[in-house]
Amino acid sequence: MDLFAPRMRRFKPSPSQLAAARVRELQAAGRDIVKLTAGEPDFPTPAHAKQAALDVMRKDQIGYTPINGTLALRQAVQVKFRRDNGLDYGLDQITVGAGTKQVLFNALMATVSTGDEVIVPAPYWTSYPDMVRLAGGTPVIVACDASHSFKLHPEELAAAISPRTKWLLFNSPGNPTGATYTQEELTALAAVLLAHPHVHVLTDDVYEHLVFDGRSFATFAQAEPGLCDRTVTCNGVSKAYSMTGWRVGFAGGPVEIIANMSKMQSQSTAGVSAVSQAAAAAALDGPQDLVRQRTADLQERRDILFDALNAAAGLSCKRPEGAMYIYCSCTGVIGKRAPDGRVIENDTDFTMYLLDAVGVAVVQGAAYGLSPYVRVSFVAPRDELRRGGALIQQACAALR
Ligand SMILES: Cc1ncc(COP(=O)(O)O)c(C=O)c1O
Repeated sequence: MDLFAPRMRRFKPSPSQLAAARVRELQAAGRDIVKLTAGEPDFPTPAHAKQAALDVMRKDQIGYTPINGTLALRQAVQVKFRRDNGLDYGLDQITVGAGTKQVLFNALMATVSTGDEVIVPAPYWTSYPDMVRLAGGTPVIVACDASHSFKLHPEELAAAISPRTKWLLFNSPGNPTGATYTQEELTALAAVLLAHPHVHVLTDDVYEHLVFDGRSFATFAQAEPGLCDRTVTCNGVSKAYSMTGWRVGFAGGPVEIIANMSKMQSQSTAGVSAVSQAAAAAALDGPQDLVRQRTADLQERRDILFDALNAAAGLSCKRPEGAMYIYCSCTGVIGKRAPDGRVIENDTDFTMYLLDAVGVAVVQGAAYGLSPYVRVSFVAPRDELRRGGALIQQACAALR
């Protein structure tokens, strides 16, 4: 009898682990590596959030918490949705999980079964297709290439919908491209969805506050109120408040879906840590100007990296509209030969070449479902971004 369940064969360990393992190997051997792979902001958690966590600990208020989140956090989420998104959710329309990842997972596990389809625009966050597969469903990947600014177009959405489509899984600003949909673009996609009442929308808004160049953020339920009763709006404190390790995410949506997401959570992790929830509530309730300052800082770092990458022979990239990454095309280096004789056949080869030849770590586009690209994070000190950029230019110039 096989020890492992068939579900474990439905997904593979993340492809980005390959490069990560090589980084560890090289570092263990004493190599100095410029890591441009960070998936989390490098700012500290706001002081008032940490203070709220300490207060809860001092008062010893750290027992089990309600499955769907403490009242204080759900109230803070309710105010956040009104303030930032113009969405009016009742407290029974809000649930809390261990990160945006867990609320997305709960939504899929609670609703997707064998044969159900979930539309996933590519490039996508690596976890989406595997989460869908784990739930028993089939990810329907729609390639959105650079000529479309990596965005899903209404006609592509319409073509991907079948009678088995359960969700459109939608991420803006997007990881890995930073593509950020305008209100008008969402309205155009919503017009397609209005004609297909069986399709629901699961949004991942975790990069909501990381939008650049004066852009504003929009989310589906706000852009098209007619979709509210079939949209689940997911978000979290990880990226906006630099609170990745606190593990707090939340969702707003129709009462029945939210109740089923909480039910899923009740037999997995149960309620999120009381300490983390207190910190998250303080972050949501507290002053928001810090978020804007930090976004401005990230925008400057984006520009440093963007200029450096575009100056490298064979690379070209679009300036990302949001998030923390540049999704850089490496079409121009494919087929070229490195000084050690190896040929760069694809973006995984290029990623390995950058690591071995000049000690720069990036993530290959294959991990995100659209090649040949590399994802380069601009969450690094400015000096490291300049150093990494110069090394990438040097590596590209050495290709023949
Ligand atoms: C698109 C996207 N969604 C969700 C997450 C995870 O967010 P959280 O820390 O809130 O679980 C990430 C993390 O990298 C992400 O890139």
